[in-house]
Amino acid sequence: MKKIAVFTSGGDAPGMNACVRAVVRTAMYSQVEVIGIVRGYEGMINGDFLPMQSSSVSNIIQRGGTILKSARSKHFMTKEGRIKAAANLKKEGVEGIVAIGGDGTFTGAKIFYEEHGIPTIGAPGTIDNDLYGTDYTIGYDTAVNTVVDAVDKIRDTADAHDRLFFVEVMGRDAGFIALRSGIGVGAEAVLVPETETYVDRLIEKLQKGWERKKTSSIIIVAEGDDAGGAYEVAEKVKAKFKHYETKVTVLGHVQRGGSPTASDRVLASQMGNAAVIALIEGRKNEMVGIVNRQVIFTPFEKAIKHNQQLNQELLKLADVLSI
Ligand code: F6P
Repeated sequence: MKKIAVFTSGGDAPGMNACVRAVVRTAMYSQVEVIGIVRGYEGMINGDFLPMQSSSVSNIIQRGGTILKSARSKHFMTKEGRIKAAANLKKEGVEGIVAIGGDGTFTGAKIFYEEHGIPTIGAPGTIDNDLYGTDYTIGYDTAVNTVVDAVDKIRDTADAHDRLFFVEVMGRDAGFIALRSGIGVGAEAVLVPETETYVDRLIEKLQKGWERKKTSSIIIVAEGDDAGGAYEVAEKVKAKFKHYETKVTVLGHVQRGGSPTASDRVLASQMGNAAVIALIEGRKNEMVGIVNRQVIFTPFEKAIKHNQQLNQELLKLADVLSI
């Protein structure tokens, strides 16, 4: 393999830059040329390519966002868009691709390989942690720490005013951020899309807390919870339970930014490195992951199908510790 391309796509995640750096430096080390594609699949279609050397990725390991920019491309969902993208890559002499992204990115990569045969290896970059075939995705640890930091602050003011707070965290289809951060902040309840939310049970729990003189409470709500987002759940609770003054905070895109944690930097570096080596060894159509500290590869098809399950023991733990 003489030349590869790397891009970031979908929702950005802290650590994507560390992964790009690892891809470029591993390629250089292996005497493989590397180009960056700007704005993911959009850049592929528009031929927006950047030649990259070791110095192109200096001083980025600590930066959030992505120097290659990101996008969710509608054009790439069309056959014509993909034909254009493949022609641009073939003209450039690209023989392999490292795609850093999540669910949507790998769905695109799979179709692209089937139609145009350019081998792709994926590195899981998403704060959602919703991919099967890795214990953690790049950006998840940073996002969870961002939530914990923010909710610690919210707890101070919740306590000062004796208030009940509903804090909405990201995850339209997955409760990984909610669950881990909920345990980390000692939330009274964690509401996730993977399990049915019973508002009456939540009220019972809050009532018990009230009876034992609890003066403030924090409920973490994943944005995709079946009972609704934090505003909706708060309204449902307020209609029947009026002991506390209730407030809602939606943390939103603050969770996607910021300097990656050490864990995310190391994870991203390992994954970027492994992805390039995999391409050189002839692997394709797979996502690199780290499970029990071992690098493994999972076919895109399996990685993206929402096979990643929430840890039931952690769900139980969140419940037990909030009694
Ligand atoms: O997939 C990552 C993610 O941050 C989700 O948690 C969230 O629902 C979504 O992206 C938001 O996407 P956008 O930035 O396009 O609004």
